[in-house]
Amino acid sequence: MPKAHREQWATRSGFLLAAIGSAVGLGNIWRFPYVAYESGGGAFLVPYLVALLTAGIPLLILSYTIGHRFRASPPVALRRLSRPAEAIGWWQVLISFFIAIYYAVIIAWAIRYAGFSIGQQWGAEPGPFFESTFVGITEAGDFGTYNIGVAVPLVAVWIIVLLLLGFGVRRGIEVANKIFMPLLLVLFGALVVRAVTLEGAGEGLDALFAPDWSALGDGSVWVAAYGQIFFSLSIGFGIMITYASYLRRKADLTGTALVAGFANSSFELLAGIGVFSALGFMAVQSGGEVQDVAAGGIGLAFVAFPQIISQMPAGDVFGVLFFVSLVVAGLSSLISIVQVVVGAVQDRFGVGRVPAVAVVGGATAVVSIALFPAGQGLILLDTIDHWINQYGIALASLVLVVVVAWALRSLPTLQRYTDTISSVPLRGWWVVTLGAITPVVLGYMMYDSLKAELSAPYEDYPQWFLNAAGWGVAGGVIVLSVLITAVLWKRDVGTAEDDLERERQESAAGQAAGEGDV
Ligand code: ALA
Repeated sequence: MPKAHREQWATRSGFLLAAIGSAVGLGNIWRFPYVAYESGGGAFLVPYLVALLTAGIPLLILSYTIGHRFRASPPVALRRLSRPAEAIGWWQVLISFFIAIYYAVIIAWAIRYAGFSIGQQWGAEPGPFFESTFVGITEAGDFGTYNIGVAVPLVAVWIIVLLLLGFGVRRGIEVANKIFMPLLLVLFGALVVRAVTLEGAGEGLDALFAPDWSALGDGSVWVAAYGQIFFSLSIGFGIMITYASYLRRKADLTGTALVAGFANSSFELLAGIGVFSALGFMAVQSGGEVQDVAAGGIGLAFVAFPQIISQMPAGDVFGVLFFVSLVVAGLSSLISIVQVVVGAVQDRFGVGRVPAVAVVGGATAVVSIALFPAGQGLILLDTIDHWINQYGIALASLVLVVVVAWALRSLPTLQRYTDTISSVPLRGWWVVTLGAITPVVLGYMMYDSLKAELSAPYEDYPQWFLNAAGWGVAGGVIVLSVLITAVLWKRDVGTAEDDLERERQESAAGQAAGEGDV
């Protein structure tokens, strides 16, 4: 049975906004400010920019090129590059699955906290409120109580995501991002303007940007910069291969990658300015130092920010702005993450969009809703997040560049392909960075994180739990990808040219039939 025409973005700006929408997410708002602060402040911008130029943008271009050249989501696209490489595609799909199940929960928390901001319903002690009253956190291994207050917004998040994906690339994802991105800019822009005019904002910004040049000699600071760039740009989980596969044949891949990369980093800097201005305000209020109040991740969003909101005039408005920004930024990233899983099944098994969304998207939602609103959800989330970042995203990217650059030696061919359609020529720097710098840095990253892992159990969680939820998940996805590839080994997918030719013939036949009817 012939497959339907491949979906396409309606406009170039639609693709660009979706790529930016995917990149700008929770990672920009709560991860970047703290990572930058902890890793040398102003001086961190040096390794950060180096990471952006030597790994972020080159890998973004590689992903766009693979998706566009082979016109499919990761498993099929990589199989078309070389049959065994399909396993790397499934690996990325499974990484996306695991990120999606916990990422959605953080958005659900943010929805509840937007409501809690009105009247500061977390009371005088936001820390204990979050851990005990809201999440009902339990020890690893104790499932805990299933929290309906988290489950209800989580179901809402999944309904929104699946509906948008059900409408498809053009009418769902593209339209959503055309609304979400300007909305996010307005909301977050208002928040930053308010934050920098707070008393103490200057102290916060000093703390963030005061450069500690000695940090540049510390290997872990460079690792942090590369790690931030990967998560933030959504590289290594197959999103950009998937999104680029819906581009028209004429597309400016390098120009788009440069714009998306710099837009994402600009938003990250804006988030750093907003978050640290607010932390400066809190430090001044409590008569302490910024270093006493600075926090990252969950602690920043759901403990430090509620404290700030409670202390500031018109805190309700600030709270709503902050949490709704998290929701909007998170949703536009989540739809891209789930699309990787849905698109892979569509492309590999020739399933239609709606059944794929219903079955695969639905299954992802069920796992997420079953596991994470429980008391153990927070620890599970933290553990999966850590392992899937270190030994999923980064390791899969390392394997991809080594296979493409060294095993298949495909970079020069891919470069020629991209250069013929793009505005900014790649020249030699792309091949050199991807072939040499990126693998060396990623290899060092692996070594560095494994050393830390083996020296002490992560967050002092029990070892059996880390073996299951950490190593088990990160290793399990690799084994499963190899198995899926082996099972599908003989099931051919044809070439991108076959697909194009078939579509051309179908459209010619359609036109002929249409003319006949007139
Ligand atoms: N790139 C997305 C983020 O930063 C996943 O949250």
